[in-house]
Amino acid sequence: MNNYGINIWADDNFIIEDAQVKLNYLSKPSLLDITKEVRSSGLKGPLILRFPHLIEKQIKTLFSSFKRSIKETSYKGSFFAVFPLKVNQFPELINSIITHGKAFNYGLEAGSKAELILAMARTSKDAPITVNGFKDQEMISLGFMAAQMGHNITLTIEGLAELETIIKVSKSCKLKIPSIGIRLRLHSTGSGVWAKSGGADSKFGLSATELLEAINLLKENDMLEHFHMVHFHIGSQMEDITPLKRALREAGNIYAELKKMGSTGLRSINIGGGLAVEYAQYQEDRLKTYTLEEFSNDVVFLLGEIMDKKGVEHPDIFTESGRFIVASHAVLITPVLELFSQDHQEKSLRIKDKNPPLVDELIDLNKTLNAKHSIEYLHDALDHMESLFTLFNLGYIDLQDRSNAEILVHVIIKKALLLHKNNQNNELQKLQAALQERYLINASIFQSLPDYWGINQHFPTIPLHKLDQPALLPASLWDITCDSDGEIGFSSKSPLYLHDVNLDEEEYFLGFFNVGAYQETLGMSHNLFAHPSECTIEIHQNGYKIKNINESQSLLKIMSGLGYDENQILIQLKNSLARSSFITEEEKSDTLQKLELYLYQNTYLRTTN
Ligand SMILES: Cc1ncc(COP(=O)(O)O)c(C=O)c1O
Repeated sequence: MNNYGINIWADDNFIIEDAQVKLNYLSKPSLLDITKEVRSSGLKGPLILRFPHLIEKQIKTLFSSFKRSIKETSYKGSFFAVFPLKVNQFPELINSIITHGKAFNYGLEAGSKAELILAMARTSKDAPITVNGFKDQEMISLGFMAAQMGHNITLTIEGLAELETIIKVSKSCKLKIPSIGIRLRLHSTGSGVWAKSGGADSKFGLSATELLEAINLLKENDMLEHFHMVHFHIGSQMEDITPLKRALREAGNIYAELKKMGSTGLRSINIGGGLAVEYAQYQEDRLKTYTLEEFSNDVVFLLGEIMDKKGVEHPDIFTESGRFIVASHAVLITPVLELFSQDHQEKSLRIKDKNPPLVDELIDLNKTLNAKHSIEYLHDALDHMESLFTLFNLGYIDLQDRSNAEILVHVIIKKALLLHKNNQNNELQKLQAALQERYLINASIFQSLPDYWGINQHFPTIPLHKLDQPALLPASLWDITCDSDGEIGFSSKSPLYLHDVNLDEEEYFLGFFNVGAYQETLGMSHNLFAHPSECTIEIHQNGYKIKNINESQSLLKIMSGLGYDENQILIQLKNSLARSSFITEEEKSDTLQKLELYLYQNTYLRTTN
């Protein structure tokens, strides 16, 4: 993997040029240049770079694909889309969604009261708002307020009780009644990790019997005209298109039946989200088996076919794809702080005047190792190592001899691996994997890559630079939390190889890609590490502009977020320092200044990188 699979996961958004990762857009800036410029202001720790042009690209791609499918099949309905806020609610991203979505009337989907307020505040009156998830009377009343304000809002009910509450609220106030949607509990299930979002035992939606009851309830209360939408969602990151086709046939037929039963207000089908993103770095790990073109063709063609057969007008189509829209827009950059090397460097050798004979032999093997005899010498070295361990355990050699032996064998293995780097057999591959290097990254996996921790989701990982030099060290990544789960272990199936770097002399940055969906909102402050610093990068023909740099929360702020009183913490620390003995008043004052500085710095490590 000399290009880190960039041709698989990057969707042409990033390229490798001049040994660096660059944006494949306009002036093609390098991620390293951007990172260094942002950090030049003194900002330390992990960094999220947002690229709004990638959001624009995804929105345009989605809408134009459906437009084309609709045109090609002479479909009579229209296409609409909303962005599900749960995927990422950070303001800079939502601003981009609103700005670039305007031309398409792109709307927002809300799943909670707070998200609904956000949608009401940020959506223009023409763009649709859909509301999913469980709702109480207050949330339903908020929906009525939104309708009264002129929003094009649909409250999708997840159960009959919600419908009863809508009816109750409509009778108790004079506010405009919002559109009503009904989530279908389909028999069809999805595929992949989130398949349980669909199917008969799914947490959400109404069964056929409940659906009929809902229609009766609406009729009895003279509200059937407000029933505008049926909705389903079979799960995120759909790997395969077949389950969606099954769900479309089921939902399409339900829609047609409801129309024929007199649901005259009904005019749209919302197919939820689920469009997958490619995260793989190796061909054999690819999971997504369809293209956007196939997806939009299938949706439009199948719905058209069902409606034509049943003599029903083509419905408008809504999607709620989130991951597809925003995953690519954010890159997490982490400095490497340290290499916890198993690599015992030759410079640490302390050869004695008189060594045990086996150590002398190792010295000789190391000196004379060549391409022709490398495997033979490697086997001799491994053999000697075993013998030397036994001698140490029996007390015949000392710790310095053992250390020298470890270093020499290690160096011999590395030399042999290098000589055979293009034709490694099983034995050499195993040795290579055992020589893993641990790279300590200035980030928290729990905060920035929670799906790796929770569901083992791989995120494409690549050094931002040095890409013209061999990266031969099998790498495990350690984060800075004190939790052994904070590690992305080396996988021999999909190995990550990184460079041998001397961090005293140069910086080394890793980029984690496609992290724009779910990671920021699911991220947790384990060990009190806060959301990373972030900024937005606008790329122009002749350069780029760094905008909206938001530094990660300070130590005091993250504590106050938990409910601690910032002032009280400050006072307690100051008092403790004032009462301490054995230092002068001047030293106390210096220490206090330092302490205050630390408290207002962000939660990540600063000294090394
Ligand atoms: C109802 C609903 N709509 C849309 C989505 C967004 O899905 P995705 O991000 O996979 O497109 C979800 C997420 O699971 C969802 O539950």
